[in-house]
Amino acid sequence: NATQTVFGEGTIRARAMLVGEQPGDVEDEEGRPFVGPAGALLRKVMGEVGLREREVYLTNAVKHFKWRPKGTRRIHDTPNWTEIRACDVWLRLELSTVQPELLVLLGATAAKAVLGGKARVTQLRGSVLERPEVEVPVVVTLHPSAVLRAGDQRAERRAELVEDLTIVREQLDGRARTSAARRQAVPWARAVTVMTIRSTKGITR
Ligand code: URA
Repeated sequence: NATQTVFGEGTIRARAMLVGEQPGDVEDEEGRPFVGPAGALLRKVMGEVGLREREVYLTNAVKHFKWRPKGTRRIHDTPNWTEIRACDVWLRLELSTVQPELLVLLGATAAKAVLGGKARVTQLRGSVLERPEVEVPVVVTLHPSAVLRAGDQRAERRAELVEDLTIVREQLDGRARTSAARRQAVPWARAVTVMTIRSTKGITR
């Protein structure tokens, strides 16, 4: 069993929301997303492409660490569809509260959670997508863990992650900030979601 629920983290003014799969071992201990090895790589690549932490909100499709024992270690186990669906309400609340300009889906679980079970990272990565499943433009890219696990192809996979996060940077640079206008259009939705989510710890104002 997971130690705790790991909610998203970042400012309500974040311009991009980055969604991973689920917290890992370190995240489960610390109660914060992307603070383990995959998070270190993600934050490094973000720095390389000029994405500042205050511009992004980091979260996961599933909010608990799913694992199986291997000796004394806790090994990551991929969340199933029921677990992804169970956490969907949280992701939707995070999205409607933060109202980012861009949604970045890191890896297959996040892509499937938002775009449906048929979504494939290799087919979808490399551009900004407008999709009917979600109101905001989407960039799909590799999960940083997939880069770390890529063995001989690590440099190549890392370059793809850099390329996709560069697209995120360019998209944010090319766009006026529109979230204020969107918020005014749905004031009741924002009020409800802010009230609901206020008790969670990750969002700073
Ligand atoms: N992998 C994820 O998908 N999310 C985290 O928070 C850490 C590792």
